[in-house]
Amino acid sequence: MQKIIIEGGQSLKGEVTISGAKNAALPIMAASLLNSGENVISNTPRLKDISTMSSLLTHLGVGCQADDNKILLRTDSIHAIDAPYALVKTMRASVLVLGPLLARMGAAKVSLPGGCAIGARPINLHLMGFKKMGADITLSEGYIHIRAKKLKGASIYLDISTVTGTENLMMAAVLADGLTVIENAACEPEVVDLANALRAMGADIEGAGTPIIKIRGVSNLKPVTYKIIPDRIETGTFLIAAGITRGEIKIKGCNLDHLDALVAKLVEAGLHIQKEGGGLTVKAQKDLTSVDVKTVPYPGFPTDMQAQFMALMAVSNGTSTITENIFENRFMHVAEMRRMGADIRVEGATATVRGVASLKGAPVMATDLRASASLILAGLIARGTTVVDRVYHLDRGYERIEEKLKLLGARIRRIT
Ligand code: EPU
Repeated sequence: MQKIIIEGGQSLKGEVTISGAKNAALPIMAASLLNSGENVISNTPRLKDISTMSSLLTHLGVGCQADDNKILLRTDSIHAIDAPYALVKTMRASVLVLGPLLARMGAAKVSLPGGCAIGARPINLHLMGFKKMGADITLSEGYIHIRAKKLKGASIYLDISTVTGTENLMMAAVLADGLTVIENAACEPEVVDLANALRAMGADIEGAGTPIIKIRGVSNLKPVTYKIIPDRIETGTFLIAAGITRGEIKIKGCNLDHLDALVAKLVEAGLHIQKEGGGLTVKAQKDLTSVDVKTVPYPGFPTDMQAQFMALMAVSNGTSTITENIFENRFMHVAEMRRMGADIRVEGATATVRGVASLKGAPVMATDLRASASLILAGLIARGTTVVDRVYHLDRGYERIEEKLKLLGARIRRIT
């Protein structure tokens, strides 16, 4: 098993380029199932989750060919309708093939994802929406079987603005008969990117990026050449890497407009962030101030930045409260940060973080993707050596993170 070793204490300096967004690339790859022909998706990050999605699409009959950061998807002969347990258990986002398979093949059979490290994460709202569109749903032997000869447009209200739920329903609705209206839809930039990709295929979608999305079904869609947006969570992680090491870095190929809430909190904490051409510069003053945050759906503070922000607060002046409102078990990093000397107490959904003067290197265990990133960040500023175990979590969502950090002056390496 691979580990990452960090000798902390280096101020980061230099330039880093952001990769494409994992959580936009995954649904857009799944959306290729809706057309027949050759799709070219560029700016796809080279990540484990992307290769898992390629394996799933290959299983369904898609011809997948990766060429650096470009993926070619040939979708003329889809011959299967199932997402097997082996793939779904390694990546929950496999459920994103449900909507497109149902729309194109009239049936889908997907392993029901179990709970995950950060919470129960049911998909009841995805299924409720498909049902409203006329699908028949049964569960047997751990698989959800969905059938609908022809989906019909429907009015769907989501109790919770689920991201992949909104994406799945949008993909089902693009080929349905008539108008589908999704209310309380997720507004995340990745949902907008998927809508833009679907529109480029010929779909009729209005309102993506707002809580009401209207989709008028069309009879068929054409293949696309499409470029994925930059990863806002990777960008945010590098902003915090500069902050926590009191460094100064230039971040290229990012979109700061997708990070308003995080940037507001980082500026309040004492970071200087400036847009510059196609990127930004971030510089941290020596003393950072504690700031409270609450995670909420976009455009609020993202749950995917909560762990990394906590690492920053662990070494800022004062006490901050961090409230996790999206996932019920997303504080697994706390116990590991405590092993590094952080002063954090958790009560219910709120962590109280008292900033300490310094963290100490320690062996720590990554528990999920963003938790791993937070431990790397803590290791960058800790005195001595930090060894992060189970880095396969990290490889699901960060492209060559240790190489990028090394170029910025971090003393970091991967060992097997
Ligand atoms: N929920 C339900 N029922 C549903 C769907 C969701 O109760 O049918 C609940 C979830 O349990 C959770 C809340 O709704 O409490 C929001 O979950 P959501 O469905 O929005 O999450 P997701 O679509 O499964 C995506 C990202 C996550 C990110 C969340 C929240 C992808 C592939 N994944 O997950 O990304 O944390 O939205 O923004 O887009 C990550 O990249 O590390 C990651 C976990």
